[in-house]
Amino acid sequence: MSEPLNPFPIYGYLGPHYFCNREREKENIISALRNGRNITLYAPRRIGKTGLIYHAFHHLGKKWNCVYLDVQESFTFKDFTNTLLAAVLNALAKNKSLVKQFQDWLLTMRPVISANPHTGNMQLEIEFKSELHQRTTVKEALQLLDSYGPGVIALDEFQQISSWDVSSVSIEGWIRSEMQHLKNLRFIFSGSQFHLLSEMFNSAKRPFYASTQSLSIGKISPEDYTPFIQTHFKEAGLKIGSEQISMILDWSDGNTYNTQLLCNRVFSKTKKIASTEIINDSILEIYAENKLSYHALSSSMSKYQWQLLTAIAIEGRVFQLTSREFITKYDLGSSSSVLRGLEFLTSRELVYQYPDGAGKSYYEIYDIVLMRWLQKK
Ligand SMILES: Nc1ncnc2c1ncn2[C@@H]1O[C@H](COP(=O)(O)OP(=O)(O)OP(=O)(O)O)[C@@H](O)[C@H]1O
Ligand SMILES: [Mg+2]
Repeated sequence: MSEPLNPFPIYGYLGPHYFCNREREKENIISALRNGRNITLYAPRRIGKTGLIYHAFHHLGKKWNCVYLDVQESFTFKDFTNTLLAAVLNALAKNKSLVKQFQDWLLTMRPVISANPHTGNMQLEIEFKSELHQRTTVKEALQLLDSYGPGVIALDEFQQISSWDVSSVSIEGWIRSEMQHLKNLRFIFSGSQFHLLSEMFNSAKRPFYASTQSLSIGKISPEDYTPFIQTHFKEAGLKIGSEQISMILDWSDGNTYNTQLLCNRVFSKTKKIASTEIINDSILEIYAENKLSYHALSSSMSKYQWQLLTAIAIEGRVFQLTSREFITKYDLGSSSSVLRGLEFLTSRELVYQYPDGAGKSYYEIYDIVLMRWLQKK
């Protein structure tokens, strides 16, 4: 007998039954792709961008070739080229004749192909002669895929291209012009670094300007998450009260990953009824597992930087980091020190700037567990 499945995955996508809501967002994406529009998908970290991409892929139907690529794993343009080719190969795996055609073309470049021992997915490595060789290879791969019928390429964490060894604007211009020659292929650009993506897609000076439909996703509302959690407990013959679900959603601040993380723990500990005690124990367990890395984190920065991080954690969301009120409340000295500290914290991706949906933006700690832990101290 196989192990019973925990219905609250914290990695990957297990299918629509384990996916809460996002109906409107999914329909938006599907309708855009079917009607020839490309998408830019924005969301804070761990809200569910990658899951939503897979969810949309699932619903697009068998005719579509769906390619997913995490650009964050590519540190150079060469990595990207190799990863893209492997991602196309993996996406075509379900269709023997297409995968054969693509492979025949790939083999002319004598790639070293291997299987990832963890995921079973194909990886490949080609030694390109030059950057031009890479560009022509990507172009040919896109043209081939385009000739196979409707397809979509999701470039997740796309802002990563700005840290490559080649100029980001030149890559953007090149991708944009290649995109225009494709009949059947659509693109999803997604990412969490709002300011970088927004600059790329909404600035009139940049190549991608006005070339995509933007979609931002926020937290899943408690009205949607509550019955979803309740149903999954019920299906396993367990119970959880709405008060306990509120506790979970308060702690996770509605952040999808953290909600899943805590539900996963609570579910695994529950024999019959998920009590308040089980929830508190699960939270303590999560803190205990992270404590060492948080202590290491604090010793990797100056006292002032840690103090600023803690102040942001306690506030939750900070709209005006250099306001007199915030600086005085947390004894942070001058506004220039705050700005220097902030530069450090954002460069380490500890703090993110998010749009609030009403035209303003705020700063928040990316790791909600760290935020809660700092609030408790
Ligand atoms: N609508 C949903 N219902 C249930 N679980 C979800 C949903 N969306 C995402 N998840 C789960 O939450 C976790 C985090 O989601 P995901 O990885 O998609 O977020 P992300 O925004 O891509 O995060 P990151 O910023 O780290 O890339 C994953 O385990 C995913 O399975
Ligand atoms: Mg992701």
